[in-house]
Amino acid sequence: MPETTPSDGLTLPRIGFGTAMLKGRPGAEAVGSALRAGYRLIDSAFNYENEGAVGAAVRASDVPRDEVIVTSKLPGRHHAHDAAIAAVEESVYRTGLDHLDLYLIHWPNPSQYRYVEAWEALIHARERGLVRAIGVSNFLPEHIDRLVEATGVVPAVNQVELHPYFPQDEQRAYDASRGIVTEAWSPIGRAGEMLRDPVLTQVANAHGASVAEVILAWHARLGVVPLPKATAPDRQRQNLSAVDLELLDADVDAIASLARPDGRNNDQDPAVYEEF
Ligand code: A2P
Repeated sequence: MPETTPSDGLTLPRIGFGTAMLKGRPGAEAVGSALRAGYRLIDSAFNYENEGAVGAAVRASDVPRDEVIVTSKLPGRHHAHDAAIAAVEESVYRTGLDHLDLYLIHWPNPSQYRYVEAWEALIHARERGLVRAIGVSNFLPEHIDRLVEATGVVPAVNQVELHPYFPQDEQRAYDASRGIVTEAWSPIGRAGEMLRDPVLTQVANAHGASVAEVILAWHARLGVVPLPKATAPDRQRQNLSAVDLELLDADVDAIASLARPDGRNNDQDPAVYEEF
């Protein structure tokens, strides 16, 4: 069952592929194997410095270009209108593709307060055909409200940190109320302590699955599109098929009990944390 983003008519698969740190030839090979495994949503960012590797893999792939959703993101240092347009141009150029499918503002950087200007630039980039759909990442409701008030254009996607320790109930409800699809970065908590969590391990054992699979199945159950990064082809395949694992209501309740107010991995609260 695909997720649909009403504002741009883009149809997203239930899971995508994260690429942070996948660079150069090994990065292109990892993305190539992800495409062969069946991923059709590839996440990247100007600041990951791997749009070239991602684009090379997409171009070399047998998968028809129009079946792949290639995403990138605008860095905080390029929020000014003309700088933002130039950054999108550069992203597209680096991929060697003639357009990108989804382009997000990477962080709101509220103290800088130029994200509305950046949003206007992304609207113009879309009008020029550089990108098919536009959205945001790490935006809180108040930030999205300002974009919509200023432009009337609702982001297609909001990509946020979201995993069982930080399930973002309020942000998800807000996004849903606006028709925005929520994507999850660090969906398996960067393979940290969450993969050894006793509750998740119990659920995993009951299903004969791995903890990573349970977590990704939980995202899909919530209607969130997780973007796990994995280098090895077998893990890529395991993660992709995880969204078909059907959790019980009792599993979902047990996982809900893991939420922590301070559950973010690296204390990256977009109200104060900024990236440039
Ligand atoms: P690797 O890239 O070496 O395959 P996240 O997407 O939450 O940021 O997590 C990415 C991390 O999780 C990477 O270190 C990745 O390792 C690891 N990883 C990805 N898939 C799995 C899996 N199915 N089981 C265990 N670790 C995984």
